Amino acid sequence: MRYIDDDLKNKTILITGGAGFIGANLAFYFQENHPEAHVVVLDSFRSGETLSNGNLKSFGHFKNLIGFRGEVISGDINDKALLAKLEGDYDFDYIFHEAAISDTTALEQDLMIRTNLNAYKDLLDMAVRQGANMIYASSGATYGDASSPQRVGVEAPQNVYGFSKLMMDHLSRDYMKREKIGIVGLRYFNVYGPREFFKNKTASMVVQFGHQILAGKNPRLFEGSDKIVRDFIYIEDIIQANVLAMHPKENGIYNVGTGKARSFQSIVDSLQKELGTALPCEYIPNPFVGRYQFHTEADIGSTMRGLGYKPRYELEDGIKAYIPEIKRLFEEEVK
Ligand SMILES: NC(=O)c1ccc[n+]([C@@H]2O[C@H](COP(=O)([O-])OP(=O)(O)OC[C@H]3O[C@@H](n4cnc5c(N)ncnc54)[C@H](O)[C@@H]3O)[C@@H](O)[C@H]2O)c1
Repeated sequence: MRYIDDDLKNKTILITGGAGFIGANLAFYFQENHPEAHVVVLDSFRSGETLSNGNLKSFGHFKNLIGFRGEVISGDINDKALLAKLEGDYDFDYIFHEAAISDTTALEQDLMIRTNLNAYKDLLDMAVRQGANMIYASSGATYGDASSPQRVGVEAPQNVYGFSKLMMDHLSRDYMKREKIGIVGLRYFNVYGPREFFKNKTASMVVQFGHQILAGKNPRLFEGSDKIVRDFIYIEDIIQANVLAMHPKENGIYNVGTGKARSFQSIVDSLQKELGTALPCEYIPNPFVGRYQFHTEADIGSTMRGLGYKPRYELEDGIKAYIPEIKRLFEEEVK
């Protein structure tokens, strides 16, 4: 579905983190709906390098871009020489900034702040010099255990990831006051959908439970999962928010969720209904207590007013739309 009328002819779009989950979906949105736009993807594709928690340092994967016909550049946003070359080579109109250490459980504070915050400042300065609009990924993790519904302005991050995103928002507000470009920060809540599979263990529990069930294994949930609730949002609605953010009524920082809190148990129940199974669930202790969000629910009032955003997918709709891809991945990548 196309969300804006502008054909984007002669426009150049940079998508950082474009070989990752959300960035790759954005790349295909523009290819399919605005084929005259020139789309450049920048990503530090996976190298096998891991963080101390055992997860990959970057999750970019070529398979997320199979079928993409725009330009692809492998590189690190921390590389100032690369950013200077990009600035010389292109005249960007829009920058969708998705590149980040996206792993909320990563413990490397130096790398997290350098990559998520300091490199973002370099990109923001480039956007100002080029007169490009900046649309960047913030996160619901900025809220930590702040009470629901979460509203912009009341944050309490519980990990360095959430802290780095909150600092991006503070920096952006400062630029919004003195610069003329469009700047929109989007606080995504828990996103799920096609092209997340290569995030491995950091992919959403929707795909992970889906594959446990397809393997005939009992779904393993944390104890109390009927009461651990999150605002789970389908990728299509994330794309909608990003595209609407190209022409905001007002620069700002906006929540992107459904506005509804749903339990992890309801994910499993909905998957089992769609897959026609009735496997018993197993409950295991939650190792992340103390740095774990037990209740998230986005207040999306200002997003609806400021961007014209209206979520189209409830949890059951998103899962239903996602099932064929969950099955395909299971056949082609898991088995
Ligand atoms: N998926 C979610 O639920 C969610 C929720 C809130 C916020 N976010 C944010 O949205 C953005 C996209 O997340 P995603 O889910 O697509 O994650 P992802 O890990 O799939 O995508 C991030 C991409 O950035 C790339 N990258 C990492 N470090 C880089 C670097 N130094 N230079 C260049 N590229 C680099 C990775 O290779 C990866 O392809 C991230 O900023 C993330 O923090 C995601």
